[in-house]
Amino acid sequence: MKFEEVKLEELHTEEFINRKTEEISSMVGDGLAVNALSGGVDSSVVTMLAHRALGDRLKSYFIDSGLMRAGEPEHIVGLFKKLGVRVENIDAKKQFFGALKGKTDPEEKREAITQTFYPIVFARLAKKSGATYVFQGTNYTDIEETVAGIKRQHNIIEQLGIDPQEAYGYKIIEPLIQLRKPAIRVIAEALGLPAEIYNRPPFPGPALAARVIGEVTPERVKTVRKATQIVEALLCDTNAFQYLAILHQDRVTGIRNGKRDYGMQIEVRCWDSEDAKTGRPTALPHDILIRLAERITSEVPGVVSVTYNITPKPPSTIEAV
Ligand code: XMP
Repeated sequence: MKFEEVKLEELHTEEFINRKTEEISSMVGDGLAVNALSGGVDSSVVTMLAHRALGDRLKSYFIDSGLMRAGEPEHIVGLFKKLGVRVENIDAKKQFFGALKGKTDPEEKREAITQTFYPIVFARLAKKSGATYVFQGTNYTDIEETVAGIKRQHNIIEQLGIDPQEAYGYKIIEPLIQLRKPAIRVIAEALGLPAEIYNRPPFPGPALAARVIGEVTPERVKTVRKATQIVEALLCDTNAFQYLAILHQDRVTGIRNGKRDYGMQIEVRCWDSEDAKTGRPTALPHDILIRLAERITSEVPGVVSVTYNITPKPPSTIEAV
């Protein structure tokens, strides 16, 4: 790999922040840059660093792909407003659902998301605002897993041999490429981001699309979104590394109101992990598991079965797609 990892033990927080701010200023010069904020710790740190370096010459956008969790676009835009960073919400639901239509293969779905983010949504935003740079929160683990051929993280471009300048008309700046998550959380806190952001469980770039097996339609995302809300509410006090709901493609026979109901299945995953490279299923108390099943089957229309994944990573991965 072209980049050396900066390990948590070797990280000098203030020095890193100052160095990155200077690097960004000198790269962008008098130009303009755009940045897509998702509210995850990586993109939040990138937003703050770029805002420090560029002020008004940075345009930050929240891309509403239609794949985010309940209330997320408004919440994140509001949170950054309080921090003095103006973020514009861009409704790109049609583009994303259009690109995902009819696709069931995991890599094809990831590719559809990449092909919507870069050449369509980002390129339009860069063009509209006259920016020549786009920021991205790619981290060391994303690169490692993509290069190893495990999963194509949606934000990997140059490492796959694509020149963004040639392909899309802008350059990409990736200030966090040498860091893993624990180090990024330390930087987030030092930059004044709230605990809600720096302690945030990881959330994948393809968002809820990484948790829908089979075709990603607005209806199916609605189902997994509702289940996610319940899983997050019941598991947020567990101290687990990450917890999520997955919508399966296969249906199973259930019973509702004394009648056969051929319904949907939700799988719950809850992980103990340090850096997402490996993971173990959290030993959740039985009563929490039962509560998850009760709430999901009664509050998410059409779901008749809830399972808990007991497989470690590897051979599982954290997300399903
Ligand atoms: P996996 O599923 O690869 O996830 O074991 C490792 C960690 O990365 C987070 N994450 C992503 N996962 N595609 C993914 O599959 C992405 O684009 C992505 N971005 C972040 C994932 O949630 C887990 O913490």
